[in-house]
Amino acid sequence: MSEKRTFTMIKPSTVAEGVAGAILVLIQEAGFRIVAMKITQMTPQQAGKFYEVHKERPFYNDLVTFMSSGPLVAAILEKDNAVEDFRTLIGATDPAKAAPGTIRKLYAKNVQENAVHGSDSDENAAIEGFFFFSGLEQF
Ligand code: RTP
Ligand code: MG
Repeated sequence: MSEKRTFTMIKPSTVAEGVAGAILVLIQEAGFRIVAMKITQMTPQQAGKFYEVHKERPFYNDLVTFMSSGPLVAAILEKDNAVEDFRTLIGATDPAKAAPGTIRKLYAKNVQENAVHGSDSDENAAIEGFFFFSGLEQF
């Protein structure tokens, strides 16, 4: 089952702009089923833990500050080949390099405020999904 699921966040700056709904439409039109969803805000400690894998990277502190700066939309999505297909739908990390029509090309402001998160592996999709949702909250 896990290979059919990925985890996403619509990032705080994007929720603040009021385009979370438009992005969810694109996600559903691309064939993803929303199996869990909430709006929530991470503390800096929680964001630090979520992005622990990046803690040696130069952008880590800025990333933690940004991702804890306001409410975000967290969701688990289901589709065959979910992780790879969702990364294709969102486009490259840097919106300047993102393909036309991708969510980041349409909605990202820059490499940090890049609209959405998408898991990078089946293993991380499961870890990240359970970071936000209990088993009882995943449908
Ligand atoms: P994400 O995890 O959010 O889906 O993004 P990603 O895989 O495309 O990129 P990743 O390398 O995992 O980086 C995580 C997030 O860190 C911010 N970032 N800032 N200032 C920079 O050079 C820089 N590089 C990455 C972005 O918010 C990126 O999505
Ligand atoms: Mg990543």
